[in-house]
Amino acid sequence: MAKLNYWTDKWDLHVDVCPCDVHVNEWLAEQKATSKLIYHFGTGTHHVIGKEQAENGSGNMVFGITASIEEYDAYVKLVASNARVAKSYVAYFGDIYLTNPKLLPDFDVVTMLHLCEFFYPNTASADYGGIDDRGLLDLFTAKTRPGGHILFYTKSIAFDKVRPILAKWETEAPVARLGEFKTLAVYRKT
Ligand SMILES: C[S@@+](CC[C@H](N)C(=O)[O-])C[C@H]1O[C@@H](n2cnc3c(N)ncnc32)[C@H](O)[C@@H]1O
Repeated sequence: MAKLNYWTDKWDLHVDVCPCDVHVNEWLAEQKATSKLIYHFGTGTHHVIGKEQAENGSGNMVFGITASIEEYDAYVKLVASNARVAKSYVAYFGDIYLTNPKLLPDFDVVTMLHLCEFFYPNTASADYGGIDDRGLLDLFTAKTRPGGHILFYTKSIAFDKVRPILAKWETEAPVARLGEFKTLAVYRKT
């Protein structure tokens, strides 16, 4: 039986190297987003999106995935000492390429910040049971409510691979490109 393609590393907050999560928080603030349900790809050890949205009075709720055992441990420690964060932020451990859509609600905002970064040679094999990056994007597009937003990280190390996927997806999926916010590319589901 295949074992999970989990990430053997962890990521602390390095705003100079990877500011995308901070930019998501800033974008949400600029949108004056309230009571939105947000899916976040890649929590980091810092959990800065889930934490900020739980504590800033917006009423936004975050469902975040991490594939790092250390990052998940950090989430457990965070909510164990902070009930307020626990109420509106749930992080779970898994491989996003194994997402089962039946287990997920629809979202107002989806972050696909690390698309193409963690696709392994066996990810889409029959034995492993995963999907490819376009399949992942289509799955989360379907899980985005009409009028909702899908965000990408233009400075991702894999953005050269993301670009052609977006070019095709833009013409085939019910989405419109709104433009950029700092390091993020912003799309709306039509
Ligand atoms: C470079 S870190 C960036 C973390 C955070 N977004 C930031 O910018 O500070 C990449 C993130 O993707 C997550 N990740 C790696 N592989 C993944 C996978 N297969 N499924 C879901 N998340 C994954 C890691 O756990 C980590 O949180």
